[in-house]
Amino acid sequence: MRRKTFYLIGCLSFICWTAVLCYLFVHKPNTIKYVYKYEEVNKEVDILENELKQQLKSNEALLMTLKNIKEQIIKTGKDIKHILAENPSALSMDRTVDINKDPVICVLLFACNRITIKRNLDQLLKYRPNPRNFPIVVSQDCGHEPTRKVIQSYGEQLTLIRQPDQSDIPLTGKAKKFKGYYKIARHYGWALNQTFHTLNYDTVIIIEDDLDLSPDFFEYFRALYPLLKTDPTLYCISAWNDNGKDGLVSNEADKLFRSDFFPGLGWMLTKDIWLEFENKWPKAFWDDWIREPAQRKDRACIRPEMSRTRTFGKIGVSNGLFYEKHLKFIKLNEESVPFTQINLTYLLKENYDVDWVKTVYGSPTVTLQQLLRSDIPSDGPIRITYGSKDGYKKAAKALGLMDDFKSGVPRTGYRGVVTFMRKGRRVYLAPPPTWKQYDITWR
Ligand code: UD1
Ligand code: MN
Repeated sequence: MRRKTFYLIGCLSFICWTAVLCYLFVHKPNTIKYVYKYEEVNKEVDILENELKQQLKSNEALLMTLKNIKEQIIKTGKDIKHILAENPSALSMDRTVDINKDPVICVLLFACNRITIKRNLDQLLKYRPNPRNFPIVVSQDCGHEPTRKVIQSYGEQLTLIRQPDQSDIPLTGKAKKFKGYYKIARHYGWALNQTFHTLNYDTVIIIEDDLDLSPDFFEYFRALYPLLKTDPTLYCISAWNDNGKDGLVSNEADKLFRSDFFPGLGWMLTKDIWLEFENKWPKAFWDDWIREPAQRKDRACIRPEMSRTRTFGKIGVSNGLFYEKHLKFIKLNEESVPFTQINLTYLLKENYDVDWVKTVYGSPTVTLQQLLRSDIPSDGPIRITYGSKDGYKKAAKALGLMDDFKSGVPRTGYRGVVTFMRKGRRVYLAPPPTWKQYDITWR
C-alpha cells in the first residue's frame, strides 16, 4: 500500500511538473515582441524630438518676424497696423509649417523653341532624387511643335503646360527690339500663376531650357528650403554665382553666401513671395524688376561660391556677345556636397551679418595696384576699398569681375561688398565701413 501511494505521488508530481513545463513553454515571454516594442518607442521618441525641433524653429521664425516688424516700425515710424496692412502675410504662420517634413518642391522649366531642351531634361531626370518630392512641370511658350514633341517624349516623367496667349505684343519705337523680353515676362507671369494657383504648389525652383545642372542641384535646394521658409530677410535661393569664373572662385564647393543681388538662373521662390509679385508683375525685364527696391525690400538671396547651373544658350533673346564675353566662363560645380547634412544656420541674417562685417572689415586693406602687382606683405584675405561708382567699375574691370549695377547693387554684392578669389587669396572689394545703403543712381 505504502509503495503504491509512493508511486502515485511520484506519478502525480511528474505529471504536474510536465504540465508546469508545458505551461511555461507555451506562455514563455516573447522577447521578439519586446525588441519590437523597444523599436516602436525609439521611433516615437524620434518623432517627438522632430516635432520639438520643428516647434523650436517655428518659434525662432516667429521671433525673427517680430524683430523684423519692430525694425520696420523703428525705421519707417509707421505703426504696426500700417505695416501689417502693407504686408498682410508678415505675421502668417504659413512659412513655418512642416518645413522639416518631406516638402514637395516643384521644378518649373521654361521652354520656347529649343529642341536642345533635351540636354536639360536628361540632367533633371538623372539627378532628381524622386518624382514625389520634385515634380517637374515644363511650361512651353512659342507653340514650337518639334520642341513640344521632345518634351512629350518624356511621358509621365513630367507635366507639360502650354502658354495659351500667342498673340503679338504691339510695341513701338525702341521697345520693338525688346519684344523677346516682353514675351518672356508674359510667359513667366502665366506659368507662375499656373504653378502656384492651379497646380497649387507652395514652392518652386525656376529653371530655363538652356541650363546645365550640377549633380547636387536638388540637394542644394532641398537643404536651403527651410532657410527660405524661415528667414524673412531672404526672398530667393539661387544656384548662380555671377562672378563664378574659373580663377575667381575657390574650389570650396560647400561655400555659400548671402547676396543683395538677385542672381536668377536656377532659383527657388515661395508662394508667399509670388503673392507679393503677382498683381504687379512687369511687362518686360522681369529679373531687373525683381531687383528693384520696391520688390526686394532689403531682402537677400543665397548663392553658392560654385555655380550649380551653367548656361549653354549662346543664341537667345539677349545678344550672344554677353555669352561670349562672360557667361560661357562660369564654372559649373561638379562635386556633390551633402548640404542637407550640414548646419546652414550661419546663413541666417542675424548670424551672418555680424560675422560678415567682422571678416570683411577685419581684413587688412591694400590698394588695387598692390593687388594687381601681387605686392602684398601678408597671407590671408585682404580688402580693397571703393568709394565711388567709377572706383568700383575700374577695380571690377581690372580684376575680371562683372562691373554693372542693377538698382545700385553690384553683382553678388552683400552690404556693398563683392568677394572673389585672386591667385588663391580671398579678396573683399568693399565700400568704407560707414556704408549705409545702395545708391540706386549707380548703373
Ligand atoms: C535673359 C536671362 C534669363 C531671363 C531673361 C528675361 C541670362 C543668361 N538669361 O534671357 O534668365 O529670363 O533674360 O529677362 O541672363 N522664352 C519664352 N518665350 C520666348 C522666348 C524665350 O518663354 O518668346 C524662354 C526660353 O525658353 C528660356 C527663357 O525664356 O527658358 C530665356 O530665354 P533665352 O532666349 O535663353 O534668353 P536670355 O537672353 O538667356
Ligand atoms: Mn538663356
